[in-house]
Amino acid sequence: MNTPVPSAPTAQTSRRGSPLKIEGLGLQIGGATILKDVELDVAAGSLVGVIGPNGAGKTTLFNVISGLLKPTAGRVVLDDRDITAASVPARARAGLGRTFQTSSLFPKLSVLENVRLAAQVSLGGSGSLLHFPRKTDAATLRAFEKLDIVGLTHMRDAMAGDISHGDKRKLEIAVLLATEASIVLLDEPMAGVASGDVAGLVGNIRDMQREKGCTLLMVEHHIDVLMGLVEKVAVMYAGTIIAYDTPQRIMENPLVQSAYLGTGSTGTEAA
Ligand SMILES: Nc1ncnc2c1ncn2[C@@H]1O[C@H](COP(=O)(O)OP(=O)(O)OP(=O)(O)O)[C@@H](O)[C@H]1O
Ligand SMILES: [Mg+2]
Repeated sequence: MNTPVPSAPTAQTSRRGSPLKIEGLGLQIGGATILKDVELDVAAGSLVGVIGPNGAGKTTLFNVISGLLKPTAGRVVLDDRDITAASVPARARAGLGRTFQTSSLFPKLSVLENVRLAAQVSLGGSGSLLHFPRKTDAATLRAFEKLDIVGLTHMRDAMAGDISHGDKRKLEIAVLLATEASIVLLDEPMAGVASGDVAGLVGNIRDMQREKGCTLLMVEHHIDVLMGLVEKVAVMYAGTIIAYDTPQRIMENPLVQSAYLGTGSTGTEAA
């Protein structure tokens, strides 16, 4: 059964309170504890980083927030509404968007078609390519606007599978922008991106927050880039969040240094 969820605030809607709250979240799979007592409160319009060693549970947490996995304990709260049992499309309609650690683009479709499809679905149309677009229809116009933002207009006719890794990451951002999501989860948006492309992606992410008013949660292993970008950092270790604070305080936190840099015991053990 799907829980009714609030309709999406428009991108420019000013938000108050906590658009995203995670309360006592747990996930057990086949006797293994993957997530345990995860607590997180993301302030409206903020950009929060999620760090932690490989296998800490970062992607799994995103999978639970976006509805791909159902937790075995706790709640996911979006704009003060419990969406723990809501479907993935219902969450998307409520304004939640995400990118994946591994690309989720349609490789055989053009760059423009990838963005236009997302815009078409978000505008209430079908996800079918059999809908022949006109250059001036709303979805196509929105797609061009988003391609322009990420600097990929000149590549609109290239097949998504043929473009560089860095350009794929930009295209994923354009697809996300086309959905007009207001709460955005980014799973390693800069993984494998050439250093020359990092500044552009950072600019796109900043714009989502500052110009679109999005609330963002972002997993990233590029710690220096992340620390200069986010207001707060959540540190995951063994399926739980062991610290949630400003970048400065996180860097000084001995528990974090121990968990992330492997310099000793964290006092937190995987179940
Ligand atoms: N569906 C599943 N079934 C069983 N175990 C799973 C499942 N999904 C994730 N896991 C396990 O949960 C743990 C957390 O994985 P997850 O992918 O969330 O880590 P991560 O923090 O994103 O790591 P990375 O930094 O490498 O991306 C791992 O031990 C993984 O093997
Ligand atoms: Mg991951």
